[in-house]
Amino acid sequence: MPKQLQKKVALITGGTSRIGQSIAMKLGSAGARLALTYHSSRQHAEEAVKEIESAGISAKLYSYDLAKPGSASKLIEQVIREFGLLDILINNASVFTETPLGNINETDWDQILNTNARGPFFLIQAASEALKKTGGAIVNISDLYGNQPLLRDRIPYCVSKAALNAITKGLALALAPQIRVNAVAPGAITFPENYTDDKKGGLLKEIPLGRPGNATDIAEAVAFLLMDAPYVTGQILAVDGGRSMKNQERETFWTAPEQTSAQSPKRLTGSSANAFDAKCS
Ligand SMILES: NC(=O)c1ccc[n+]([C@@H]2O[C@H](COP(=O)([O-])OP(=O)(O)OC[C@H]3O[C@@H](n4cnc5c(N)ncnc54)[C@H](OP(=O)(O)O)[C@@H]3O)[C@@H](O)[C@H]2O)c1
Repeated sequence: MPKQLQKKVALITGGTSRIGQSIAMKLGSAGARLALTYHSSRQHAEEAVKEIESAGISAKLYSYDLAKPGSASKLIEQVIREFGLLDILINNASVFTETPLGNINETDWDQILNTNARGPFFLIQAASEALKKTGGAIVNISDLYGNQPLLRDRIPYCVSKAALNAITKGLALALAPQIRVNAVAPGAITFPENYTDDKKGGLLKEIPLGRPGNATDIAEAVAFLLMDAPYVTGQILAVDGGRSMKNQERETFWTAPEQTSAQSPKRLTGSSANAFDAKCS
């Protein structure tokens, strides 16, 4: 039986590192031919490609600085010239630079926004004609912090992922019906190296499913959006063990005076409810 992505061409930015490599393995195992990019970690990228090829997957490696003006269209031109077509674009490359408020300079801001948001936008624009011809699909790798910009030492990163979410929705509309555009928003996947066991433990308490995610969880979600969701576009799929839901959890904040602990809280009605609403509005 032919594989689901047989003969399809998938371009994955940052496709030789961690989550990107896992997506590459997943799509490659489904039959896709891969164009994988890295920026500067050449040795690591070459080793990753060897590992991917040893699983019988065909992959070509490209080195581009996607934060640089003009690089997105050059990359797309090169991939289409060498493969002849493009079916899938995964915008995964990103920087996660620590930027404490007070010390952020404009160079850091530009590097983060250009890599994580401007690059993906111009890659999509440059790829859109080719993707229209193949009825292609795009998945942007965002972050749960794109929706909740609450990393105090990485605000430009949160802004870049919020922009990527906006790009996902705006371009899903602009490129329909020929091209679907979705995003996956990972939660805690790999802990930063400087995280202490205490900090990791605290974070785990915020995850209803009780474990950090892994790169395979993200690759599975990407594969779902590409292969099993033909009627889904403009969506940002949180793959975070329920963590974004947990942030919205609220304690019950009233107890009726006549209640005993065995009774469940009752909704206020009538004049009590009106008084309550007035107090809270
Ligand atoms: N890891 C997590 O826990 C987590 C959580 C939430 C969201 N995410 C998102 O998931 C995606 C993958 O994360 P990851 O942790 O697997 O990433 P990663 O290991 O840090 O890899 C990032 C990739 O992006 C490339 N890159 C960086 N700057 C670039 C530039 N200017 N031009 C071109 N390529 C560039 C890197 O290339 P070089 O190595 O050659 O520089 C590398 O291949 C990212 O979009 C990230 O925001 C990750």
